[in-house]
Amino acid sequence: MKITEQIKQPILEEMELFETKFHESMTSKVALLNRITYYIVNRKGKQMRPMFVFLTAKMISGGSVNDRTYRGASVIELIHTATLVHDDVVDDSNRRRGFFSVNALWKNKIAVLVGDYLLSKGLLLSIDNGDFDLLKIISVAVREMSEGELLQIEKARRLDITEDIYYEIIRQKTATLIAACCALGAKSVSEDLEQVEKMRKFGELIGMAFQIKDDLFDYTDEAIGKPTGIDIKEQKMTLPLIYVLNHCTSQEKKWVINSIKNHNKDKKRVKEVIAFVKNNNGLTYAEDKMIAFQTEALALLNTFPTSEYKEALILMVNYVIERKK
Ligand code: IPE
Ligand code: IPE
Ligand code: MG
Ligand code: MG
Repeated sequence: MKITEQIKQPILEEMELFETKFHESMTSKVALLNRITYYIVNRKGKQMRPMFVFLTAKMISGGSVNDRTYRGASVIELIHTATLVHDDVVDDSNRRRGFFSVNALWKNKIAVLVGDYLLSKGLLLSIDNGDFDLLKIISVAVREMSEGELLQIEKARRLDITEDIYYEIIRQKTATLIAACCALGAKSVSEDLEQVEKMRKFGELIGMAFQIKDDLFDYTDEAIGKPTGIDIKEQKMTLPLIYVLNHCTSQEKKWVINSIKNHNKDKKRVKEVIAFVKNNNGLTYAEDKMIAFQTEALALLNTFPTSEYKEALILMVNYVIERKK
């Protein structure tokens, strides 16, 4: 059995029902919107966030979920989808999940509005059902994701990012939403705030490993369903590059910075920078850091009693760093 199937085994019923509810949550009276959301749901992603929600809820409750858990999972996936639609505008990226991105097909104007629509649909799903405790968890994540994307742009402009700022960026733009998945999954079934906080922290740690993995993908040539090699083009400095910049001669550093500042659209030059990062152990360093976050996440998870849900979460933690897309 594939690892993803194994992970889904204890939440098969939930994921199936989620699928229907998630589709329903997007409908609109505007035909153009329906056409676009139809396009989006037919190119679904890995759905790791709802999986985190359901597995956490079941681990905490000992096997049961409720309507709040389902709504929470839908809200999170709606918000995740909205941020991807916006992110592809921000990153000027034309591919997502193996197909054209929304901005590539319908242009930026429409992509911005579709992202806003999905975000508001998500928030309303919580509001209309009075899930205010879950809405609070989600809204913190939404705010932090915007801050993270903006902090990243600020640093890309000045090219002065440090390793600590990198961690702050990925915590905000990515880890915070996965933290919200786990906190929300727990809160939907339990009022034990200590456990909710523990699961939030678990999600944050594995979310950090998740984004380091995503940034490593950018240095490969593999078919992951979205463009690779675009971070340097977008002057986005991620962990492999940051490490190498801090461990090379000042002359080399000048060459790298000049390449990113003034030659970032020159494909050959970008390839040379990528090779430089690889030859100077940038990737292995980032891999080590990713594993350190993963190990910390596992240690936290191990403070919970054994169950099939916990086992599936352990598999999920491993999948985050071993995945091929
Ligand atoms: C992509 O997330 C955005 C990041 C935070 C790196 P996923 O890799 O979970 O995207 P899908 O939903 O599976 O396409
Ligand atoms: C992902 O940022 C996090 C979001 C806030 C969407 P990236 O720009 O690194 O993600 P991908 O690689 O496009 O999915
Ligand atoms: Mg981005
Ligand atoms: Mg992007």
